[in-house]
Amino acid sequence: MGKVLILYHSEDGNTGKMAKYIAEGAAEVPDIDIRVKSIDEASRDDIHWCDGLALGSPTYLGTVSSEMKRFWESFVDTDWQKIDGKIGCAFSSQGGWGGGAELTCQALMTIMLNFGFLVFGVTDYSGHQFTMHYGVTQAGEPREEKQIEGCRRLGRRLAEWVAVFVDGRKDQHPLVAGRQRNPWDK
Ligand SMILES: Cc1cc2nc3c(=O)[nH]c(=O)nc-3n(C[C@H](O)[C@H](O)[C@H](O)COP(=O)(O)O)c2cc1C
Repeated sequence: MGKVLILYHSEDGNTGKMAKYIAEGAAEVPDIDIRVKSIDEASRDDIHWCDGLALGSPTYLGTVSSEMKRFWESFVDTDWQKIDGKIGCAFSSQGGWGGGAELTCQALMTIMLNFGFLVFGVTDYSGHQFTMHYGVTQAGEPREEKQIEGCRRLGRRLAEWVAVFVDGRKDQHPLVAGRQRNPWDK
């Protein structure tokens, strides 16, 4: 059974709330094992455990928090070249729209690329003018339905890719399973 880890840093709870909704989305795909952990709770064993990773950080000065960067730096010596090939995606909460959360997502994906992960974005729209091409971003916590659904959509897509590429369940491909829905679809 494919394994999905949602791993985040959150000081004030906003990125943590995103993680919860991302987990809900992942749970919509049957037969996927899901863990949600903050970097305070997680260890390198969790990274080894997962097939797919949604990695989240608050936007600090337009990039990832130092805590998140330190988490990954702490096991370069021991684990680099031992966790390649996992499927990764990113999420971030920022103070306000335009505050740099997409840059943070790119920085999170850069970390994952350094470890040999296969990172992806999502083409769907979860509501009017709301998409997640570089991962899902929020201002503060997700409140509106399209923001919550954007988080769920990222988690669902991660679980779908794990099902397709790790478990070989081609029927779970979003274009086959019909889960890639946009507001303009009938
Ligand atoms: C040190 C620090 C730097 C920050 N830098 C930015 C920033 O560059 N852009 C932004 O929009 N918000 C910035 N913020 C606000 C946080 O990104 C925002 O409050 C976020 O929702 C916090 O997420 P959390 O609740 O998961 O900790 C910063 C906050 C702190 C504490």
